[in-house]
Amino acid sequence: MKVYITLCLSVCMYLCEALVESDSDAIIEDKDVLVLTKSNFEWALKQHNQLLVHFYAPLSGQSLGSILEFREAAGALKEAESDVRLGGVDVKKEKDLAASLNVTTIPSLRLYLSGNKNNPVYCPDLKSSATILTWLKRRKGPSANIISNLTQLEKFIGEEELVVLGLFKDLEEGIVKVFYETAADIADLPFGVTGNDEIFSKYEISGDTILLIRKSKPDKQFELGSSTVKTDLVQFIRLYEMELVTEYNGETASKILNSVVLNHFLLFINKTEEGFEETYLAFKTTAEKLRGKVLFVMIDVSEPRNGRVMEYFRVRSEEVPQIRMVNLSDHVQYQLPSDKFDTQTLLEFCLQYLDGKAKPKLQSESIPENWDTQPVKELVGMNFEIVAFNHNKNVIVLFYAPWSIGSRALFPLWEELAEHFRENEDVVVAKIDVTANDVNIHLREKYPSIKLFPAVYSERVVPYSGKRKLKPIVTFMKKETEKAKTDKVKEEERRKKYLNEQKAAVKEEL
Ligand SMILES: *[C@@H]1O[C@H](CO)[C@@H](O)[C@H](O)[C@H]1NC(C)=O
Ligand SMILES: *[C@@H]1O[C@H](CO)[C@@H](O)[C@H](O)[C@H]1NC(C)=O
Ligand SMILES: *[C@@H]1O[C@H](CO)[C@@H](O)[C@H](O)[C@H]1NC(C)=O
Ligand SMILES: *[C@@H]1O[C@H](CO)[C@@H](O)[C@H](O)[C@H]1NC(C)=O
Repeated sequence: MKVYITLCLSVCMYLCEALVESDSDAIIEDKDVLVLTKSNFEWALKQHNQLLVHFYAPLSGQSLGSILEFREAAGALKEAESDVRLGGVDVKKEKDLAASLNVTTIPSLRLYLSGNKNNPVYCPDLKSSATILTWLKRRKGPSANIISNLTQLEKFIGEEELVVLGLFKDLEEGIVKVFYETAADIADLPFGVTGNDEIFSKYEISGDTILLIRKSKPDKQFELGSSTVKTDLVQFIRLYEMELVTEYNGETASKILNSVVLNHFLLFINKTEEGFEETYLAFKTTAEKLRGKVLFVMIDVSEPRNGRVMEYFRVRSEEVPQIRMVNLSDHVQYQLPSDKFDTQTLLEFCLQYLDGKAKPKLQSESIPENWDTQPVKELVGMNFEIVAFNHNKNVIVLFYAPWSIGSRALFPLWEELAEHFRENEDVVVAKIDVTANDVNIHLREKYPSIKLFPAVYSERVVPYSGKRKLKPIVTFMKKETEKAKTDKVKEEERRKKYLNEQKAAVKEEL
C-alpha cells in the first residue's frame, strides 16, 4: 500500500505543477478538467447541465491516482463530444467552497445536474478512467446489456473472465430495478440481463437470480427476494468476484487492496519449486472455509515484478514458503507460528486470529556478531527484551532509523554516554534500528526516541524527553533509577502489610 502511494506521489508532484491559479471568472482548464473555484463554481453549474466534479487534495496519496484517472476520463469525454463536463476542486485551496458544498470525503466524485448545487448524485468509488466512463454510460441506461438468445449469451460470457448475469422474469418493472442500480454502481464489471426461457433452463434457474459467471462457467448465484436491496447485491458481487485464492499481480493488486474483506492471508511461495502444489492445495482448501472473512492471496516470489511487495513485507525469497496474516485496518501482521502448511494448521491459525488470539509478528534482524563487545550495544528484535527488561540492569536505549539524519546525529552522544558509564556494571547503553526490528512496546513518538528501562522494575519503561545532552540524560537516569528502587521498596512494604493483614484476618476467623 505504501509503495503504491509513494509511486503515485512522485508522478503527481510533477504533474500537479501544471495546475494554474485563476483570479477571474473565466474557467481555466487543466488537461481538459475545469479548475473550479469559489468564484467560478456557480457559473460552471449554469454552463454545464451535467457537471461531474472531483474533490481532491493534491498531495494526499489517495487523491493522486484519482487525479490522473480523472484527467484521462475528461480527455476521453471531450473527444467523444459528451454532454458531461469534468471539473476539479482542490479542497485544500478551496476550503470555503468545499465547506459550503458539505464535502466530507476526499477524494470523491459528485455529479451535479441541471445547475442544482444542492442535490448532486454521489458517485460510488470509481478507481479508473474506464470505470468513470462506464458509470456515466450506465447512468443513462441501460445499465446492463440485454441478452436475448443463447448466441448472444455465449459472446457475453466469453468477453471477460468474470461477468454478472441477471435472470429476471420481468425486465422492466419490479426487483430488476435493484439489479440495474447495482450494475450502474459497479462499473468495473460487465453486466448482462435476460428474460429468455432458454437461458433460464440452461442454468436450471426458475426465479429472479443473479449469476456470477467465471471463465464462461456459472460460479455463484444469488436469488433475489422482495426485500433484496442494492447493498445486498453489491456485497454479494464484491465478495465473490475474487477467486478463492487470488494471485497477486499488476491486474489484481487494486482489487485486492480495495476488497471489502480486510483480513488478508498471504502465501509467499516459489511457484516453480517442488512442493508448491501441495501447499497451494491446503491454502485453497482453507480459503473455502473462510470466504467472506479472510481474503487469500498468493504471491509468487519467482516473479521478479513482485520484488516490491516482498520488500514491503520484508520477505526474502530464501525464506519461503511463508504465510502471513495482515489486518488492513491497522496494518498489523501475524506470522503463521509453524512451518507446517497443512489445512488444519492454516485453519486453526486463521480462527485464532479472527478470535483476536494470534500474536502479532515481531520482526527482527539476526543478532550481530559483536553486538555486546562495543561500548554501545546493538540490539535487534530477538535480543531486545532479554537485554532491556533485565531487572539487574538500568538500560538506556536509543530507538533510531538508520536513514534519519536526526537519528544519526545522536550516535556521538550515545558513544559519549557509553564512555561515561564504562566502569558502571549496572548500566547498559544500547541502540536499536526500529525500522528493521519490531519491539513489543508502544513507540508512539517519531524516532529518534530515548527510553530508560530501569533495573528492579523489569517491566517499567520511562521515556526521556529532555535535552539531548550528556548531563541531563545522566541526571534523568539517576533520578529514575532511584525512583524505581524506592517505588519497589514501597511496593514490597505494601505487599507485606497486605499479607500480614490477610494472616491476621485468617487467625481471627480461626
Ligand atoms: C450543507 O448542509 C447544511 C446543513 O445540513 C444545509 O443546510 C445546506 O443546504 C447544505 N448545502 C449543500 C450545498 O448541500
Ligand atoms: C440473437 O439476438 C440478436 C439480437 O437481438 C440477433 O441479432 C440475432 O440474430 C439473434 N440470433 C439468433 C440465433 O436468434
Ligand atoms: C524458484 O525455484 C526455482 C526452482 O527450484 C529456482 O531455480 C529459482 O531460483 C527460485 N526462485 C527464487 C526467486 O528463489
Ligand atoms: C483489525 O484491526 C482493527 C483496528 O485496529 C480491529 O478493530 C480489528 O479487531 C482487527 N481484526 C482482527 C481480526 O484482529
